[in-house]
This record gives sequence, C-alpha cells and structure tokens, in this order.
Amino acid sequence: MSEPVLFVLIIMVLLLAVSFMMPLADRISVPATILLAVLGTALGLGSYGIGEIPDIGFAGEVVHGLLDLKLDADLILVLFLPPLLFTAGLTIDVRLVMNEMAAVLLLAIVAVFVTTAAAGWALFFVSGYVGQVGLFTCMLLGAVIATTDPAAVIAIFRDLGAPRRLTALVSGESTLNDAAAIALFAILIDAVVDRPDWNVGNVMITLTRDFIGGIAVGFIAAQITSSLLRHLFNLPLAEITVSVALAYVTYIMGDVLVDVSGVVAVVVAAMTFAVEGRSRLSPGTWEKLLQTWYQLDFWANSLIFVLAAMLATRILPSAGLDDLLFLAVLVLAAFAGRAFVLYALLPVLSTLRVTAPIGGRYKLVLLWGGLRGAITLTLAVSVSQHNMIPEEDRHFVSVLATAYVLFTLFVQAPTLKPLLRLLRLDQLNPNELALRDGVIALSKAQVRNDIEEVTRDYGFDPELAEPLYEELIKSGEALEQEVQAAETEGDGSEPPGKPAAAQMSEAAGVAVGLVALTNREKEIYLEHFQDGTISRNRVAKLITLVDGLIDRVKVDGAKGYETLTNQQINLTMRARVSLRLYRHIGWGGPLSTWIADRFERLLITQLVVRDLVRFNKRSIRPLLGPKTSAVLDGILNRRLTSLDDALAATDLQYPNFTKELRYQYLVRAALRLEHGSYQHALAESLISREVYRELERDIASRRAKVEERPTLDLGTGLVDMVSRVRVFHGLKHEDLLDVVRLLRPRLAVPGQRILRKGDKGSAMYFIAAGTVEVGLPQGAVELGAGEFVGEMALLSGKPRSANVRALTYCHLLGLSKRDFQKLLKAKPWIKEVIEKIAKDRQAINLQNKEE
Ligand code: CMP
Repeated sequence: MSEPVLFVLIIMVLLLAVSFMMPLADRISVPATILLAVLGTALGLGSYGIGEIPDIGFAGEVVHGLLDLKLDADLILVLFLPPLLFTAGLTIDVRLVMNEMAAVLLLAIVAVFVTTAAAGWALFFVSGYVGQVGLFTCMLLGAVIATTDPAAVIAIFRDLGAPRRLTALVSGESTLNDAAAIALFAILIDAVVDRPDWNVGNVMITLTRDFIGGIAVGFIAAQITSSLLRHLFNLPLAEITVSVALAYVTYIMGDVLVDVSGVVAVVVAAMTFAVEGRSRLSPGTWEKLLQTWYQLDFWANSLIFVLAAMLATRILPSAGLDDLLFLAVLVLAAFAGRAFVLYALLPVLSTLRVTAPIGGRYKLVLLWGGLRGAITLTLAVSVSQHNMIPEEDRHFVSVLATAYVLFTLFVQAPTLKPLLRLLRLDQLNPNELALRDGVIALSKAQVRNDIEEVTRDYGFDPELAEPLYEELIKSGEALEQEVQAAETEGDGSEPPGKPAAAQMSEAAGVAVGLVALTNREKEIYLEHFQDGTISRNRVAKLITLVDGLIDRVKVDGAKGYETLTNQQINLTMRARVSLRLYRHIGWGGPLSTWIADRFERLLITQLVVRDLVRFNKRSIRPLLGPKTSAVLDGILNRRLTSLDDALAATDLQYPNFTKELRYQYLVRAALRLEHGSYQHALAESLISREVYRELERDIASRRAKVEERPTLDLGTGLVDMVSRVRVFHGLKHEDLLDVVRLLRPRLAVPGQRILRKGDKGSAMYFIAAGTVEVGLPQGAVELGAGEFVGEMALLSGKPRSANVRALTYCHLLGLSKRDFQKLLKAKPWIKEVIEKIAKDRQAINLQNKEE
C-alpha cells in the first residue's frame, strides 16, 4: 500500500474507533475525551509489541502504520488548529464578551503570561536539583499548558443557571487565551531552537506585532469573505465552503505569508465572520454552517486526543520519577498562576468598577475548572514531532503537557460536580425555587389550555383528553421529585416545600409572570427575524438585552426588571462617547449611528411591548390571576410610556429620518408577505421553480435596498432647529454651526418641570419646538417655538424668577452659563436682543407686582 493511502486509511480507522467510543462513554457516563485518551494509550502501549505482531497482510500493514505513525509538526498545527480555533471564535457571544472585555483580556492574556512564567520558573528551579532543563524549554511547557478548555465549566454553569456573564467570561477567556498562548508558544519555540536574535525586548515587540498584525489579517480576511458571500447566490454548500477556506487560508496567510500570528488571525476572522457573515446568510444556512464546524471541530478534537495519548505513551518509558515531580510542580504552578489572577488581579478590576465582582464560590469553580484540552495536546504533539528541538526537550514538553491534560481530565473534571455540591452551588435559593415551580406550573397549565383548544377545534369528546391531563400532572410531579432528589442528594436535609402556583406569594407570582413575559419577548423577536422585518444583527442585540432582563428578574424580581428596562432606554457609555466626539471635535458619525441604532431598537421594542400587553391579558391572566396580571400590566405600561417618550423625542428632532425608518420597516414586512405568497404558489405548483428563483432574486435585490439605513444628518437637524429660534435668525450658515456646537438638545415631556423658582441659574433654554408655561403671580404665560427661557438668572446672577414647565413635548436647546457668556462676547448683537427681552419681561413682572 502506498504511504498516502495508508495514511488516509489510518485516519479513517481512528475516526471509526472514535465513533464507537461515543456511545460507550454515554453508557458508562464518563466524558468521551477520557475514553479517547484511554484508546490512545492502548494504541501507544501496543507499539511496544510491534515486532511481535504476525504479518497478517493488509490488516497488519494498517496496524504497523498506526503504531509507527509519524506526523510533521507543521502538519499537525495547520491541520488541527484552524477548526478548533475557528469553531470557538464562531460560537462565542461576541456582544456579551465585549461587555466583559476587561475581565476577559485580563484572564486571557495576563493569565497566560502569569501561568507561563510561574510554571516556567518553578520547573526551571526544581530542575536545578534533579537534572537541568533549559529555562526556555520550561517556559515552552508553561505556554503549552496555559490555554484552558471551557467546555466542562460552561456545561456546569448552564446547568446551574449561573449568570450569563460568567459563561461569556469563560468562553471569551478560553478563546483569547488560546491565541495568546499559541503566539507565545511560537516565540518560545524559536528561543528553544536557539535563534541568535532572541531577547526579552525582541519578544515583546514580536508579540505585539504578531497580535496586531493577526487582528488586522483576520479582520480583513473575514470582511472580504463576507462581502464575497453575495456572489454565491444563497447556495448553502458554496457559502459554507467559503467559511472553511476562510479559516485555513487566514491561518496560513497570517503564519506564513505575512508572518504575524495565524492563530490570532483565525480567531478574529471567526468572530468577525460570526457578526458580518451571519447577517448575510439565511438562518437555515447559518445553522448548517455551524453544524459543519461542530463536525470539523469534533474530528480535530478527537483525533488529537487519541494521537497525543498515543505519542505520549510511546515515549513514556523514558520518563522517570523526576517527571512525576515535574508534574506536581506544573500542577501547583498552574494553580498558583490562575489563583493569582482570580484572587489578586480580578478584584482590582472590580474595585476600579471595570467589571462587576465575581462571587467567591464561582471563583473557586473557575479555579478548579481550568481544565486543559485539545489545544494543549495539539501543541504537545507538535513539539513531540518537531525535529529541530533536541529530543530530550521534546519528550519533556510533550510528556508533561499530555500528563497534565490527563491530570485535569482524570482528577479535576470528575471532582467538579462534588465541588459544586460542597459549595452548595447546585441548590436554588427560595426565590429561585418559587420561580422554578411557578414556571413549571405555568407551562403545564399552558399545555392544558392548548390541548383543550385542540380538542374543541377538532370536535373531539372533551373526556378523551382526561388521561392526558392526568399524565401531565404525574409527569410534573415526577419531575419535581427528581429535581428535589437531585437537590437534596448528599446533604440529607428535608426536601423543600412544594409551592404550587396558588400558594405563591405575590412577588413570586409577579416574578414568574415577568419570566414568562421575557421569554415571550424573545420569541417575538425571533418571529420578527424569521419574517425578515429585523436583521440578525439587530435581533442578536435585542436578545442579549432580554437575556440580561431574565437574569435580573431572577435576582431582583420586578424592581430589577424596571431598573434595567429604564437603563436600556437611557444614555449608554457609547452614547456619551459619541456625544463628546461630536461636541468637541465635530465628528458626528458615531453619534448618528447611535441615534439610528437606538431609534430602531426602541421602535421594535415598542411594537413588542404592545404585543406583551395583549399577551399578559390573554395568556397570563387566566393562569396567574387578575391581581398579578394587573401588576404586570402596570409594569408594561410604564415601560411603554418611557418608550413612547423616547421615540417622540427622536421624532421631534429628526422627523424625516424617523419617517423613512418606519417606512423601511413596512417595506420589509411587505416583502416578507410577498415572499410567503410566492413560496405558497411554488408549493402548489402554480409557478415553476425557475420563475420562483427569478422572483426570489427580485425580492432579494429590493430587500438589499431597504437594508441600507437612511442617512441621518445631525448637522442639518440641529441647524434647522437652531434657525427656528428668533434670536439666531440673522446668522450665516457657518455661524449657525458654531452656535450649534455650544447648544445641548434636550427633550421635555408634557408636565415636566424645566426651571424651578428660586434655583441658581446654570443654563438658559431656547425653545425649538413645543410650548412651555411660565408660572407668574399674575397668571401663566405661554412661550412657544423660537422663544427662550432662563436668561434672567444668567444675566442678573439672581435666583430663578419663576417656575417653567413643559406643556407639550418640547425640544429645548440648552446653553450653559459659561457658553452663554462666550456667545454673548462673540456676538454682541445677540446680547442686545436677549438683554432687551429680559428687561421687558422684568418690567412686566415689576409692574404686576406693584399692581
Ligand atoms: P429666570 O429668572 O432665569 O427663570 C425663570 C424664567 O421665566 C425667566 O428667567 C424668564 O426666562 C422667564 N420669565 C420670567 N418672567 C417672564 C415673563 N413675564 N414673560 C415671559 N417669560 C418670563
């Protein structure tokens, strides 16, 4: 058999073996990776008997080939890294990770350096006593084991219903630390191989360059690929293939052609593609694409586990007691490094309020759950096959790294669950218990309602469904018992009481209702997405917000819900930065994007909350009762009012823009309906596939048009507003622009107080739209668009002379005291006009006082 044929056959035999390990692992309930490692070890041990295998022809050749397998270090990296990294980058929730960026970067990058250094120095120190190993070799080993595999911890966090930010933190950390560790690994390999130009300064420069270059290569490659998708005419097979090519080509381009970090490039490409590419693919294709990547990841992951265990076992005889000592040192140093980051550095970040604090129990889970997996093994195998590294060093790194992975797999992984129990993390608090029971009761009641409806619709005898209801109750009880048993397992305490929906406290009832509402909210967004009225990007953002809501309701109930929904309407960090950029350097791009994004988000949310109000009346009221439903109704209506106000403000400020956005929304809905009717016609064979394709293309091109957002011109919006104010009527366009920059737009809702009598004056307001009311002893005076208030206190330095409140939605342009003085100095005639009006007003007031 020729060598390539033999190679392919060997890989297939391994994959076949892997497939059969899966169901076995399931049956004896151990992680599949453990069985893969066992398989590899068995194969490795087999190589000792290699000479004794009788020559059994074809099969013998395969066995020999397998036991004597030699791979090239480069081949291992280029074959296995891209799928492992790309899948990780593709599946992390970029938005959630962005929110936790500081903590993620700390855990990912700083922790990699700390672990590498800690492990490297500790090993080097110990090796001084038992047999010298080079410092760089020790460091190399440190870098190899510095990456973490999040799968186990994430699975546990999901089971526990841990706050989503923790899951985001762990997955973000592990994806980025792969990149950091492998970049460091590449440099340390050079050091071990003894490049003459190697020193610490160079390393920092190289690392920074590799990182930044890698980010650029990955980002650009993914952008180009995403824009190429358009030319593939929605053919899923082609689209998915492009993503595979993207991963491999980016890796090779980064590593070989541009000489930056290929690993960083792949991760960034995947993350960019997840955001950019996703919005250009149909939801169905995206699912298929993910499936493809899971498959590739699975192959890479399992092969590497078998290969690593096999190769490590093969060189095991050369290992001695020293290695056991080294392993102990490695384990301790890795723990110490991680503990340092978790317990010393993270608290600093939370003190600086860069990240929310992480509970002590969760930290312990993060510490103990820092398992190592496929990436560490890939690096270990690649070192073991690297022919430029001295053989002893090769063995040292690959055996110890593999042993360490096995340690985390055999010791840490199985003890994670008991640790949770010990920390009582697996127990729900009374609040969560009530919530969970309420939700179960609610969904059972919902199913019952639905079945009743079906029975009625089909004209079945209502009694027919009786056994079904009984089963429903039974299954519910069984589930509850099971859950309770799991909860009390181990600590022998009494099972907690069984709060049925009827016994729930009002607060718990409201919380259950809110969870139901938030879940419904999520469903509606997805429906809108499926209807094509909102894009995937937008839906992803909205769903992240709703997820945050669910987390908050679990902790703080109704109060948390209201606080967060209010926060979601108010100014964010991004808005503040954008505003500053606009005011100080006149760059309006980010601000107009933010305004547009926000308006769209609020518009959709408004529609959805209206739906929720109906949902509450129709579906929640019968289940949770009128009292709870009324409370929910109040909460929803308050949310709706704030949304209405916020939208009215934007409408007032940018009427054309908001009109056009609303129109686009309508067009998208219409396109969806049109598409639906064509699909129907195709299914009924009223039109041919050819015609259908043609129509689909036409719809796609029209949809592309409404995907582009209308432009929002901040400048003209504000200039328009300012020019409506009488005082500024004579200004030239450039002067108007100067004034615009000094003014701060502000909205007042009907009834809102704008100035309070007796307060110190800090600003005056020009009225661009709407009507205000000045409360004077002689009666209220109304002022409308074009006029101004609050000038008197600024001119005289005395307290405010009257109360002023908004009668309608008002658009005000605020001018701070400092800017007021600046303006009056620069434009003396404005001063004159304002002073004159103030004087007249004062005169009227005085006159009235005297009368
Ligand atoms: P100030 O005194 O800073 O705060 C209250 C404001 O009400 C005042 O400035 C004027 O802008 C406005 N105001 C007071 N008196 C009158 C009036 N007679 N007519 C119109 N506006 C007035």
